[in-house]
Amino acid sequence: MNPVELIKLKRNGSALTKDQIKFIIEGYLDGRVTDYQMSAFLMAVYFMNMNEEETFFLTEIMLESGKILDLSHIKKPKVDKHSTGGVGDKTSIILAPLVASCGIAVPMISGRGLGHTGGTLDKLESIPGFNVNFPVDDFKRILEKTGLVMVGQTAELAPADKKIYALRDVTATVECIPLITSSIMSKKLAEGAEALVFDVKIGVGSNLPDKEESIELAKKLISTSRKFGKKAIAVLSDMEQPLGMKIGNWLEIEECIEVMNGKMIPDLFKLNNVLAGAMIYAGGMAKNIEEGEKIALQKLQDKSAYNKFLEIVEIQNGDTGYVKDWADLKRPAFSKTVTASEDGFISEMHASDFGFAAIELGCGRKKVDDEIDYLAGIILHTKVGNEVKKGDVICELFSGSSEKLEVSEKRMKDAVKITGSKPADKPLIIDILE
Ligand code: URA
Repeated sequence: MNPVELIKLKRNGSALTKDQIKFIIEGYLDGRVTDYQMSAFLMAVYFMNMNEEETFFLTEIMLESGKILDLSHIKKPKVDKHSTGGVGDKTSIILAPLVASCGIAVPMISGRGLGHTGGTLDKLESIPGFNVNFPVDDFKRILEKTGLVMVGQTAELAPADKKIYALRDVTATVECIPLITSSIMSKKLAEGAEALVFDVKIGVGSNLPDKEESIELAKKLISTSRKFGKKAIAVLSDMEQPLGMKIGNWLEIEECIEVMNGKMIPDLFKLNNVLAGAMIYAGGMAKNIEEGEKIALQKLQDKSAYNKFLEIVEIQNGDTGYVKDWADLKRPAFSKTVTASEDGFISEMHASDFGFAAIELGCGRKKVDDEIDYLAGIILHTKVGNEVKKGDVICELFSGSSEKLEVSEKRMKDAVKITGSKPADKPLIIDILE
């Protein structure tokens, strides 16, 4: 087969066979298909889509590019959660240790920043020394010892996603249902969980800004899980404005540590609790999500989640001193405030504008090999629905580079809207599908 021929077939709208998809994916891993050909192929899929059967083949081939773990020797329920991607979406950092402290094993394979959305791996790596690349034997050893493990795709686990994910991040090929489905499912099916909870984001800051498409994605994630014999729940949550008050790799870890130490950040707290409840229920340790939420709340309040977090930082070689020292705020050299231009109510904090502004500050990549500025980011001082006076600080921007700060400030120009009357409240949890 010739990669050019296959790109042309997809570009012209044909459905590809399993062998053709296999050639592209395996060829990309062994060098017969180049980065530029894969980019063209992904863009062709973005425009021409894939049908149900092609999406299933793509998922299966990406899954089989690596090992599929058998964790049946671990006698606890094994449950994981994955988000479809948002801005300020840091729930995995709280959820994984929280649910593990409730007696569920959490084998978590996550991704890096993708498009304008942040990634769990980049956030974890903002903790000096934190290792997200372990061979399978170590993955199992850590999971058995602590009840959780938080890693990335490797040469052994979901290698096709590892390579394609990094390319999609910088080629504007993120927002595409078959590519998102195969990316998420190839990781989640490889890691050996029995049940999966999906946090499907809806709104301008999600990877699929169209609501109907997000609902379709939620249904696809559930049906693909079922086809592979996994239980699945999808929580549909609002992503019109950033989640929580902090955006950026270390800043988001810091906010999670604050929550695990009792600080109330209402939207982050609520979403985290519902997702934890869903994971505990999916693991068979509660009769419904509400009962799961009660179990999770107690473990958050008695600091079990924080202690488990410190345990995972230590076992994955992270600097626990750096984490414990969180209250001694770590900030980069340059900062700027964005202030309200008039009196009124905040009616919009456009999540994807905040995400792109964060990338300009150094939180994400524009090229595959860009370096991350781990301390860069944005701290919100207010949220949608709050009243402000002209001159009030809406948010602070932080970066290790004054030039980046200037560019980011310009990117923020239209991100915040103020109106004369208070906007209607919107629900954070839009729906739950089982
Ligand atoms: N999360 C993933 O792992 N992949 C995507 O494509 C989007 C969100």
